[in-house]
Amino acid sequence: ADTPVVTIDGPGGAGKGTISRLAAQRLGWHYLDSGALYRLLAMAAQRRQIALDDERALAALARQLDIRFGTGNDDSVWCDGEEVSAFIRTEQAGSHASLVAAIPAVREALLQRQRDFCQPPGLVADGRDMGTVVFPEAPVKIFLTASAEERAERRYKQLIAKGIDVKIGDLLADIRARDERDTQRAVAPLRPAEDAYSLDTTCLSISQVLDIVINKVQERV
Ligand code: C5P
Repeated sequence: ADTPVVTIDGPGGAGKGTISRLAAQRLGWHYLDSGALYRLLAMAAQRRQIALDDERALAALARQLDIRFGTGNDDSVWCDGEEVSAFIRTEQAGSHASLVAAIPAVREALLQRQRDFCQPPGLVADGRDMGTVVFPEAPVKIFLTASAEERAERRYKQLIAKGIDVKIGDLLADIRARDERDTQRAVAPLRPAEDAYSLDTTCLSISQVLDIVINKVQERV
């Protein structure tokens, strides 16, 4: 429990993934992309024809699913021995993830698997409930936000850069629906931990946000 953890929570599209990955690199720490676990679970369930509201089957799958992540610069994700990062990064995979993520038994089943990522010399944990539920003792907790419009715009630029054709209005509607589901659910809803440092990134660059996060870590660890 002496291994330091930085939790980075917030709504989708606030830049958690980018910032967490860069912070982990800068610190030389491990990185947990907890959203990828929910995305993988939803994908694997569909491949097995398990319905996304079948609580028992989903919880069992969450416990035994073969999941591996690349380390360092390698952001590949492996499930059942197959590289699946392209499948789990779609908007649809995100929506499906937020359905399975609302099921208490699924969250319970993934709890220990997430804690197992906490290995020396440290961990940067990215998600919705890292500071509130999974790593409540973390010495540094950050809550990243940005306006829904700004988040839709960032997502839009990312997708267009990848050659994926999307409408910004659809992205905004999607972001609002996912925010609603993530903040209103009964179990582990999206909210800042009481001791979290909230940072609105709407008008900040990636490197500005990264510097603030690294400074917080140096202050407290
Ligand atoms: O962060 P990402 O967009 O990959 O997460 C996908 C979905 O997984 C979120 O919308 C949320 O419903 C769920 N999630 C969660 N708890 C986490 C991480 C993700 O409920 N710690």
